Amino acid sequence: MKGANDTLEQLAEARDKDQWGSINGLEKNLAFHLSGHILHSIYWHNMTGDGGGEPLEKDGVGELADAIAESFGSFEKFKAQLTKASATTQGSGWGVLAYEPVTGRLIVEQIYDHQGNVGQGSVPILVFDAWEHAFYLQYKNQKVDFIEAMWHVVNWQDVAKRYTAAKERANNLLLAP
Ligand SMILES: [Fe+2]
Repeated sequence: MKGANDTLEQLAEARDKDQWGSINGLEKNLAFHLSGHILHSIYWHNMTGDGGGEPLEKDGVGELADAIAESFGSFEKFKAQLTKASATTQGSGWGVLAYEPVTGRLIVEQIYDHQGNVGQGSVPILVFDAWEHAFYLQYKNQKVDFIEAMWHVVNWQDVAKRYTAAKERANNLLLAP
């Protein structure tokens, strides 16, 4: 959060002095740092040692499993898309499963850096860190192996919880009159 707090301080200074020469860079930094913080926070909760496999009704995550099947055709097709999106990110970024409030369905997004290429209002519920720092030490440049390993530790309970919360908040985002 330090990056975001520093940027907020710099913006407060710009307001106080009425000096806006750095406004573009500051706004970009704010988006970058806030989004990086949020994505990493989700990431740590998305993974667990006894996770993996696919979401199943018997594990209490049937609603999420149904939403995945409805939105992508099947779990396998969803897995293929999120794997591909994560593995082919240009430069640094993330592959993300997100709840999209306008259509009320799940989508896969390919995020550049921490904040680019995202639909406004979509809520990330499962995120794969595809920055080099996430995989390089253990997997060298085998990004695909790293992503396959992440599928074995997905905490579907956490993803399902986030899915329910995102759906409940959807109306606040849309602000229907
Ligand atoms: Fe990271």
